[in-house]
Amino acid sequence: MSEFVPNISYPTEQKVYADRVKSKLAENGVFFPKATVVTYGCQQNVSDSQRLKGMLRLMGYDIVEDLEKSDFIIFNTCAVRGHAEDRVFGNVGATKKLKKQNPNLMVAVCGCMAQQQAVADKFKESYPYVDIVFGTQVFHRLPEFIYKRLTGGKRVFELELKNEKIVEGVPVDREDRFKGYIPIMYGCDNFCTYCIVPYVRGRERSRSAEVIVAEAKQMVADGYKEIMLLGQNVNSYGKGNDDGINFAKLLRMVNNIEGDFRIRFMTSHPKDCTIELLDAMRDCEKVENHLHLPFQSGNSRVLKAMNRRYTRDDYLSLIKVARERMPDIAFTSDIIVGFPGETYEEFKETLSLVKEVKFASLFTFIYSPREGTPGEKMPDPVSRAEKGKWFDELLKTQDRIQKDYNNGFVGKTVRVLFEEEAPKQDYIIGKSDGTVSVYVKANKDLIGKFADVKVVSNDGVLYGTIV
Ligand code: 5AD
Ligand code: SF4
Repeated sequence: MSEFVPNISYPTEQKVYADRVKSKLAENGVFFPKATVVTYGCQQNVSDSQRLKGMLRLMGYDIVEDLEKSDFIIFNTCAVRGHAEDRVFGNVGATKKLKKQNPNLMVAVCGCMAQQQAVADKFKESYPYVDIVFGTQVFHRLPEFIYKRLTGGKRVFELELKNEKIVEGVPVDREDRFKGYIPIMYGCDNFCTYCIVPYVRGRERSRSAEVIVAEAKQMVADGYKEIMLLGQNVNSYGKGNDDGINFAKLLRMVNNIEGDFRIRFMTSHPKDCTIELLDAMRDCEKVENHLHLPFQSGNSRVLKAMNRRYTRDDYLSLIKVARERMPDIAFTSDIIVGFPGETYEEFKETLSLVKEVKFASLFTFIYSPREGTPGEKMPDPVSRAEKGKWFDELLKTQDRIQKDYNNGFVGKTVRVLFEEEAPKQDYIIGKSDGTVSVYVKANKDLIGKFADVKVVSNDGVLYGTIV
């Protein structure tokens, strides 16, 4: 089922293209077209893919997860780290064979990786069986691209990055019936020196608060229990809009929607994390008791070289201020190990910060040079093998901390949202508003519902019983 954001209409032009695609496919003898969307990378991409699926359904495609049965395959790609890109080239390459089996098959590549000119050129020159390549700011034009390829014969390459107003009304196909994403802003203006995102997603552009609240209301009315507000840097939400609504205010507006649901958000940049936001988090009962606050490095020199615009002390003060307001708040973070020029002594400050803050969980990455970023040109004398050792040390440290952290929940009662079946038979997994997962022996009909659960033990995973 596809949903439309209420009151906002998808551009007529694209609707017309969608209708024409439907007729053209039938003319070509493809009566029950099937499409697979392959997604790499972050939640933003998952959310974009749900919109790609919405548009594909509008064109009459059934969404499947089977490349062999598909008439249309689209790869929505990620460029944040190198190895994700290598996988995409491999998987796109494998569609050459599928095209021999199904001459009607069309292959498209979009997203952050495709936005890079060098990558698009590589697809143009060395992957002649790729029909359509497009970037991050034109994905709402999918019906047009498919139509043009179906009728004109020429391959379509569209990398326009004009940073114009966000096109609203794109149909959404959310897979989950109880958890859903709402993108609130796109792009990033921060230019951290390791990161490719500002180049491939362009400038920060925020959706209007009115549209976001309308979408959230519709989701609550449809029975959604968890809404995740998404953006590369949600804390700078609203810049450039003229309604004066910043992220703290937006949170309060979404929190005011009546209903039993909870609100999560990602990602917050520490430099833009304000007292006003922390106050809003404390005051809003639906906002989860969790802050994902990437610090990247615990050393102030490295932070400066990364262009993060805060110091180690700034970060630790922020944690303190947040804990004063919300004593049980769970923190999670992103860390890069082995930024160019980082020494072992400097890395040890990352370790010590991890020990000091006691994060609920961490997303850790070894630095990956990205073409066109300032980081790529910085001297990087430490070997990959050495960085690997540091990385393992970080994982081991966090492992111990996380065990202690989870032990702290034994005996406590937490409100969870049941999300999925556990790998263990007859158990389902519930997630607290502070991100801990609890295994509970219960009927899977409870998935998508809230319950109070008493945590009884921890043997690597937490077990609990419904109160
Ligand atoms: N190398 C390694 N990790 C990176 N990230 C972003 N760019 C790079 C890179 N070039 C990480 C950061 C960011 C997360 C989404 O990905 O930690 O917060
Ligand atoms: Fe990349 Fe930094 Fe922007 Fe995050 S804030 S997307 S790490 S440039």
